[in-house]
Amino acid sequence: MADRKAQLTVDGLEKPLDLPVYSGTVGPDVIDVRGLTAEGLFTYDPGFVATAATESAITYIDGAKGMLLHRGYPIDQLAQNSNHVELCYLLLFGELPTEKQYSDFEKTIRNHTMVHEQLANFFKGFRRDAHPMAILCGVVGGLAAFYHDNLDITKEDERLVSAVRLIAKMPTLAAMCHKYNIGQPFNYPRNDLSYAENFLYMMFGNPCEEYKINPVFAKAMDRIFMLHADHEQNASTSTVRLAGSTGANPFACISAGIAALWGPAHGGANEAVLNMLDEIGDESEENIQRYVDRAKDKDDPFRLMGFGHRVYRNFDPRAKVMKETCDEVLGELGLADDPQLKIAKRLEQIALEDEYFIERKLYPNVDFYSGIILKAIGIPTNMFTVIFAVARTIGWISHWNEMISNGYRIGRPRQLYTGYAKRDYPTDR
Ligand code: SDX
Repeated sequence: MADRKAQLTVDGLEKPLDLPVYSGTVGPDVIDVRGLTAEGLFTYDPGFVATAATESAITYIDGAKGMLLHRGYPIDQLAQNSNHVELCYLLLFGELPTEKQYSDFEKTIRNHTMVHEQLANFFKGFRRDAHPMAILCGVVGGLAAFYHDNLDITKEDERLVSAVRLIAKMPTLAAMCHKYNIGQPFNYPRNDLSYAENFLYMMFGNPCEEYKINPVFAKAMDRIFMLHADHEQNASTSTVRLAGSTGANPFACISAGIAALWGPAHGGANEAVLNMLDEIGDESEENIQRYVDRAKDKDDPFRLMGFGHRVYRNFDPRAKVMKETCDEVLGELGLADDPQLKIAKRLEQIALEDEYFIERKLYPNVDFYSGIILKAIGIPTNMFTVIFAVARTIGWISHWNEMISNGYRIGRPRQLYTGYAKRDYPTDR
């Protein structure tokens, strides 16, 4: 892979080090620094700002161009022409399915949406007001207790059985978290509905009346699943890979990914955006400006949630599609004047003209508008990150499968140690 090299000169080393340089299909070249350990050196990169932890062929983000490719296809084209189940196939297998492959895959997913009846008992151990992400973390990890079969991760067909189970069952488990929170009975999935329609039915259907699927909501839900499906080596995907590198079963790895996603700096941001818009409350110019000023103030912990991204130094292409979807859904519902949407749009406008945000290349990210759509559909705020987890399951399991299929070593980062040097225990204490 390496026909080029980087030369590193280090004070105290006799001669410069030659380190191989690799190029990908697109994107920055990488310097293979593994040879440093032979010289007693490590690289130092807290937060992995400049570290390629793996090779991958699934998703590519060009932060400067605001471009997101899934197996080479741009996210805006996929959002326009595809659906979440087809995107799951593409991410997992690497190519768009033929008509037959799609129908077989879609049917397999539909036929695995039910969960073991015994799993319902897991929920009873939680308080009714438990955060649904806490419940989801526990229940998904618990799936390993039900699927002792097909957990040999060295076998491709067994890995794919777990992948299908997770893609199919996450919407069911997510809806069960919500139903448990509100004290309503769980809805069984229905095989006559699409992936997004089924999720909405399990979330909002109840035994007392027929639930009518709103096609606008179903389309918006499917698009939200697609826009959150995968995003290279983000914090939760890297967590899944690290857990997977120990040989842990896929359910444990996905549960670890759910835990990492929960943080407000990551997938928890969509819930934090709505809480922020609630806190801002008044859409007057001076009030909004006051919050923008707080976001810029180093001594104020307030941040504009839904803004900024480690990779995108231009717009987040998903935010653009999300904003269009937001306008569509609220327009259909006659909520174009929704106060929170007005505050969000004004925040975005001010921030995009403000030197502080321009200088730091802080633009709205995928989470900025998604919460407004979810709220308009009737999804409670505490379920927003759960929906992100449902969507991101395909990304997590595709990366897990890619790693396990291609040979891997246990992930074991090193450190710069700044604690005490060796000292003796005081025996005269
Ligand atoms: C997701 O990695 C992924 O791909 C994630 C994701 C995915 O699909 O998996 O895209 C999903 O997690 C999107 C991000 C959602 N998080 C938020 O919206 C939370 C608010 N954003 C910030 O917390 C922050 O922007 C991050 C976490 C997204 C990025 O953090 P970085 O890259 O470590 O940037 P940083 O914190 O070093 O900030 C650089 C500067 C700092 O100011 P200075 O020290 O240079 O003066 O920008 C400032 C920060 O204070 N800054 C913000 C800000 N985000 C960064 N200031 C105000 N409001 C913000 N939102």
